Order: sequence, then C-alpha cells, then structure tokens
Amino acid sequence: MEATAPLRIGVAGIGTVGSALVHLIERHGNDLAVRSGRAITITGVSARDRSKDRGVDLSAMTWFDQATELAADPGNDVFVELIGGADGTAKASVEAAIAAGKHVVTANKALLAAHGNELARQAEAAGVSLNFEAAAAGGIPIIKTLREALAGNTVSRLYGILNGTCNYILTRMEQEGIGFEECLADAQRLGYAEADPSFDVGGQDAAHKLALLTAIAFGTEVDGDSMYVEGISSISPADFEAADELGYRIRLLGVACRTDSGIEQRVHPTMIPKSSAIANVTSVTNAVAVEADSVGELLLCGPGAGGEATASSVISDIADIARGDRVGTFGRPASDLEPYRRAAMRAHEGGYYIRLAVYDRPGAFAAIAGRMAELGISLESIVQRHRAPRAAAPGQLVPVEPAPVILITYDTHEADIRTALDTIKADGHIADAPQMIRIEQLG
Ligand code: HSE
Repeated sequence: MEATAPLRIGVAGIGTVGSALVHLIERHGNDLAVRSGRAITITGVSARDRSKDRGVDLSAMTWFDQATELAADPGNDVFVELIGGADGTAKASVEAAIAAGKHVVTANKALLAAHGNELARQAEAAGVSLNFEAAAAGGIPIIKTLREALAGNTVSRLYGILNGTCNYILTRMEQEGIGFEECLADAQRLGYAEADPSFDVGGQDAAHKLALLTAIAFGTEVDGDSMYVEGISSISPADFEAADELGYRIRLLGVACRTDSGIEQRVHPTMIPKSSAIANVTSVTNAVAVEADSVGELLLCGPGAGGEATASSVISDIADIARGDRVGTFGRPASDLEPYRRAAMRAHEGGYYIRLAVYDRPGAFAAIAGRMAELGISLESIVQRHRAPRAAAPGQLVPVEPAPVILITYDTHEADIRTALDTIKADGHIADAPQMIRIEQLG
C-alpha cells in the first residue's frame, strides 16, 4: 500500500453509529484527507438487512452479507466493527480482520471487556492497530487522553459518569420527581439505552467501559469480571429528598483507584457533593475525571452516546491509522500489562448513607447506634425524617409503624457496614431491607 493511496475502510454494522460514520466521512472527507495525509474511503459494508433504508447512500460500496467475509476481504485496509456483543459475529470478524493483517477500529466495549487482552495480543502479533476510542464514553476522547496525553503521569483515581441512560434517569427523577419506569421508557424512546436496557440500569454497560479505562490508566490487563457492580433500580424518591437536604446528588459512578491491596473497580449509585464539578453533569452527558500526579485533576465531559458523537470517536481512530500512528491497544505492549489484582469490595473504605425504615418505639435509635458503635462505626449524623401518624383516641393502642431514619457515617470499612446492617435487621428494629449508598469524597 503506497503512503498516499486512499485508506480503504470496511464497516460492519450500519446502525445509528455506522450510518453517522458514513455521513461524517462524506461531510469531512476533504479535511480528513488533509489532516491525515491521505483520502479515507469506505469501500465495503456489511449489516443484517440489505433492504433496510438507513438514510445513507451505500450504493458505491460493496455489500457483504457476512461481516467475517468483509473482514477478510482484500478490498479494505481497516475493519470497523460496529456490530456489538461480546462474542459471536463481532469477535469472529475482528479476529478474521486481524488474521488478514488489517487494522481494526471498534466501538464494542462488551467485546473488549471480555476478550481485550487476547485481542490486543493478536493485534500486536499481527503488527496491526486495535483502536477503541468510541467504546468508552462515546464522543469524549478519554482513551487518547489516558493513553497519550497523560503518558507523563501516574494515575491514582479515575471516576466517571459512564452511562448516559442512568444519568438521564437519575437527573430526571431528581429534577422532576418522576418515576424510574417512566424515565427508562423515555430513555429507550430517545435511543440512549442499549437493546437490553437492563445492561444500562444494572450497571454492566458502565462496568465494561470502566474495565477498559482501568486497563489503560493503571497498566493492568482488562478484567471486566473482577468488579463490584450495582445498578440504579433501588434508588427511590426518598433518597433524592434526603440527598438534597444533606448537600448531595446521586449519580451512577464508575470508580477505579489504587489501594494497598490492589485496584478497586466499582460501579454503583454514589452520593457526591453538590459542589463537585461532576455533580452538575446532567441528562445523557457523560464525564470522566482523572486524578494523576503531574497534571492534578482533569474532568472531560461530553456526549456519551448518539450516532455522530460516537462516530466522531471512530473517525479519530481511523485518522490515527491513516497517519500511521500506532500505539499498543491499552497504551503499552500487551505483554507489559500487569496481571490485574482486585481489591476486595469488603475492604472498601468510605462514608455511607443509610436509610432505614425503623419501627418507631423507644430505644430503637439507641440500639441502632449501639450496633454501629460495637463495630467501631462513627456516625456523622442520625436523623428521623418524620414520624409515622399516631392514633388520636385516648386509651387506643398505638400501632408501631416504621419511620424513615437516615444515617451518615464517617469513613469506615464496607465489611463493618454490612455486618452492622445484618445485625440491625436481625434485631427486628427495621421493617424493610436497608438502603445503603456509598459517599465518594471528591475534590
Ligand atoms: N447505552 C449507553 C448509555 C450508550 O446509555 O450510555 C452506549 O454505550
């Protein structure tokens, strides 16, 4: 291939992102050619249904019914995988492209979270790039930032809002006081949610993205399974009300940090101070904060989903290949990635918000506080939010109703919090399962 020959692209998966990619390459073709030093042209495409109207003209491109055939076809130099899914056609076609000596660009976080180490090794052995800017936080250039711009740093913590659907749902519930189901239905209608929205609201989508960011930030092998993941479906209006009064907002955060016992990776609803920059990231917008020794703290915000924003990241990967810029998939040679050492979630140390439905009778507070004290948990506050209605008639028996009680702890170990909550429940002081939300200290 001559240096000035056009770079020929094969695109598998012509959905929202694939169609936007075709549009953007048309719209920015001239500029891209100048910036990359060569023209970029889509020569082949593949998707499930040839007859579907995608609003883009594919007539000049060769159609392939099988993505694996497009991947192996000598008519393209770069294979762009926009099919999705951790296995099946996506994995088979990426492997076929690497085996055929092609560079690969993918937006597939599930694939890389599950098979990233193996695919990075295959790409390295074949001398090709495996780029994935679009796989984490859509249009935000966080992969390049971590892999290239922060090369002179040691990262200590990385955290972010990595799922637009969850952020949309949580901010609408917070701002409009509407229910989870209604917000989720709107997120699906607007095209933010994955085909299976349980991946969004259950935290798995954010976990896949976090696993990729962790590998680059900490130089470890990708380990998408060694992570604590909790979704947002248990968050209730009572939590938003209490959070607001206490000066917090609730966001689904993905957090990765170094600890003495290894790398802690976790995705869960989190109480964050209203004054923190990331607390003001609303709706479908994503944000990633990086804390590193040389640069201090960075916060990158932007669209985490959507056709053009995601295609913008795909194009940046293609432009790197067009220019001949090659970096290891996770920022270093695959053989230099350290084995991932997981820090146990039970060893996590932080503050906790706890909401209990406490039977309103004398001594309940004291008993709960006593159980916390037995485990060395120090309370910053304990507040009964309101009292259950009392019977009025003299002499009438007063039923013991549960009333909401909110506790905020100082930094403590997760293992102790879990033990304390189990004991309080066993003591019979609370009516329902306790709600527990971790508090993240942010600068
Ligand atoms: N469904 C994802 C989100 C977008 O809601 O952020 C693609 O990862």
